[in-house]
Amino acid sequence: QNERDSQFIVSDWAKNHFHRLLLNSEEGMSIGYGYLKERGLNLATIQQFELGYSLDSWDDLLKAAETGGYDKKYLEKTGLTVIKTDDQGHDTGRRYDRFRGRVMFPIHNISGRVVGFGARTLKRDDKMAKYLNSPESEIYHKSDVLYGLFQARQAIRTQEVCYLVEGYLDVLSLYQGGIKNVVASSGTSLTEGQIRLIKRYSDNVTVLYDGDAAGIKASLRGTDLILEGGLNVRVVLFPDGDDPDSYIRKVGDQRFTEYIETKSQDFISFKTTLVAREASNDPVKKAEAIRDVLHSIAKVPDAIKRQVFLQQTSATFGIDEQVLITEYNKLVKSPS
Ligand code: CTP
Ligand code: MN
Ligand code: MN
Ligand code: MN
Ligand code: MN
Repeated sequence: QNERDSQFIVSDWAKNHFHRLLLNSEEGMSIGYGYLKERGLNLATIQQFELGYSLDSWDDLLKAAETGGYDKKYLEKTGLTVIKTDDQGHDTGRRYDRFRGRVMFPIHNISGRVVGFGARTLKRDDKMAKYLNSPESEIYHKSDVLYGLFQARQAIRTQEVCYLVEGYLDVLSLYQGGIKNVVASSGTSLTEGQIRLIKRYSDNVTVLYDGDAAGIKASLRGTDLILEGGLNVRVVLFPDGDDPDSYIRKVGDQRFTEYIETKSQDFISFKTTLVAREASNDPVKKAEAIRDVLHSIAKVPDAIKRQVFLQQTSATFGIDEQVLITEYNKLVKSPS
C-alpha cells in the first residue's frame, strides 16, 4: 500500500464519516440536513453526491480517526486536519479539524474516488469564508478535477453537451431537476486540464455562469481557453442576481430547460454583441472591441468556423468584410 492509496482510503473514510453525521447525528440532521432541505435538495441527490456534515467541533474527525485506527499523517496530507504553528511558523504538534460545522461536498475524480472536499458554512457571519476547500495534495490537483463530472459523464456523452456552472449547488439543483450533464469549475476560471477532461466526453460546452458582473466577466475570460481547446462554446446569461441554482428553483425544471435552450448563444456572437454594445459609436473603442473579438476568433482551430465568425462580426459591427479579414490576417501574424 503506497502513500497515494493511504490518502485515497482516508478521504473515502472521511466522506463516509461526514455522510453518516449528516443523516444519523442529531446536529447533522437538524443543522446540516435541515439546511440542504431548505435549499431544495432531496435525499436521493444527497446520497448520489454523498453529501455530508462536519460537526462544529475542533477534533471530531481527529478522534474518530483514532478510534478507527487511521494514521493521522494522512489526515494532514489530505488537508483534513490543520497543523497548528506558532508565531515563527514552527509546528506546535497540535492539530485541529479543518472543516467544522459545514455542509461537506466530496469531490470525486472520474473513477469516483474522493480526492478532496468543498465545504459550505451555515453561519450568516461575514468573517467566515462561505466555502472552504481542501488544499492541493498528492491525490487532489484542483486544476485537473471538475465537480460533478463523475456523476455527469454518461449524460454528457448521450446529451452531447456539457453544461458548465460555477458552484456546487448549481450542479446539485440542475442534476436533481433532470439536467444531469452538468459540472462546476468551482468558482475559478477553467484550466487546460479541465478542458481536456470535458473533451473526453463531448466537443460542446454551454457556459451557465452567474448573472452578475463577475459571472459575465468570468465567462468572457475563461472561454478563449475553451475555444483554443477546440470545443464549441455557447453561453447562457441569467437575469442579474440569479445563478443556475436560484433560477431553476424560481421557474422550475421545465421552464429552466426551455430557457437554456432558447437563450443560449454562440460564444463568439455573445462576445461580439457585448463588446459592440459597450463600445457603442466611439471609433477608438469600437476598433479595440473588434480586435478583441478577432483575437477570440483566432483561437478557433476550425478554419470554416473562423470564416463564419468573421462574416458575422463584420455584420454586427458594420465593417466591410474584406477590411476585417485584412486586419485579422495582420493580427494572427503579429505575436501580441
Ligand atoms: N467558491 C469558493 N470559495 C469562496 C466562494 C466561492 O471556493 N469563498 C467557489 C465554490 O465552489 C462556489 C463557487 O465558487 O460554489 C461559486 O461561488 P458563489 O456563486 O459565490 O456561490 P454559490 O455556489 O452560488 O453558493 P451559494 O448558492 O451556497 O451561495
Ligand atoms: Mn457568483
Ligand atoms: Mn448560489
Ligand atoms: Mn452562485
Ligand atoms: Mn495582437
